[in-house]
Amino acid sequence: MILDGKRLSEKRIEILEERIGESGLRPHLATVLVGENPASQLYVTMKQRACERVGIGSVSVKLPENASTKKVLAAITRFNEDPQIDGILVQLPLPEQIPSRQVLETIAPEKDVDGFHPLNLGRLFMGNPVFVPCTPRGIMTLLEEYHLPTEGKDAVVVGRSIDVGRPLGILLLSADATVTLCHSRTTCLEEHTRRADILVTAVGKARFITAGMVKEGATVIDVGTSYLDGKLCGDVDFNEVAPLAGAITPVPGGVGPMTIASLMENTFYAASMRHAHL
Ligand SMILES: NC(=O)c1ccc[n+]([C@@H]2O[C@H](COP(=O)([O-])OP(=O)(O)OC[C@H]3O[C@@H](n4cnc5c(N)ncnc54)[C@H](OP(=O)(O)O)[C@@H]3O)[C@@H](O)[C@H]2O)c1
Repeated sequence: MILDGKRLSEKRIEILEERIGESGLRPHLATVLVGENPASQLYVTMKQRACERVGIGSVSVKLPENASTKKVLAAITRFNEDPQIDGILVQLPLPEQIPSRQVLETIAPEKDVDGFHPLNLGRLFMGNPVFVPCTPRGIMTLLEEYHLPTEGKDAVVVGRSIDVGRPLGILLLSADATVTLCHSRTTCLEEHTRRADILVTAVGKARFITAGMVKEGATVIDVGTSYLDGKLCGDVDFNEVAPLAGAITPVPGGVGPMTIASLMENTFYAASMRHAHL
């Protein structure tokens, strides 16, 4: 079974568009982009297009590659204080001179639609999430919508980043899976991946996961994006792995669109919460 993130995200976007229309709210998302990274520029454009589609207003600040931390923090503070803005997104990665942690901690937690503020990560850790990071949220939605059970399953996540692997590990644990988080220092990686009922890979190395690393019938979720011979490519060797997997996400058209749909949902949630408290 192909887990069609593109189709599912379309469905969720349509539902959200309707809900936003009925709510009478006009949520606003602010984006901060620092530097010229082409992938980051593309992601910001895709997010803005999705905003337009669902009826979320978007504003963005673009700062040069050599911007100072002070400038970046000032942009965030302005959005924190702007009553028109419901959600703030800082496109990662930031240039080296900018301390990501300080930047993410500056975002007001109630506008932190990416869910990377320590308060939101702490809530997630404790099992009471408010804003769940968009990629892990999108993956959990895919599993739910395709009725793929997690309870009692062996879930192996390759990659332990703060935006994907760690929060996803917590979500899978909260959904009663038995979770293993693997990373670059894991010894005998394939011994872990081969016993996974649910295998998620967020490494960023093309065709890193081969057929010999996957259990027959496993659900395989490919988060990775890299380029091979000029073509967008996941971590999984799709042609080799698809025939033996029970369910698998393609790249492109799997996790990516679900991430964007989750961002839209988080932004609407932020707007709904703020207006409920006004
Ligand atoms: N589709 C989407 O919406 C979406 C969203 C986010 C990210 N992505 C993509 O997903 C990939 C990962 O993103 P990220 O932000 O999580 O990246 P990241 O911060 O670079 O993390 C990569 C992870 O892979 C681990 N790793 C590297 N080499 C490994 C190896 N040989 N064996 C096992 N683990 C290894 C690293 O381990 P260490 O911690 O030990 O270094 C690290 O935990 C990238 O391709 C990114 O573009 C896609």
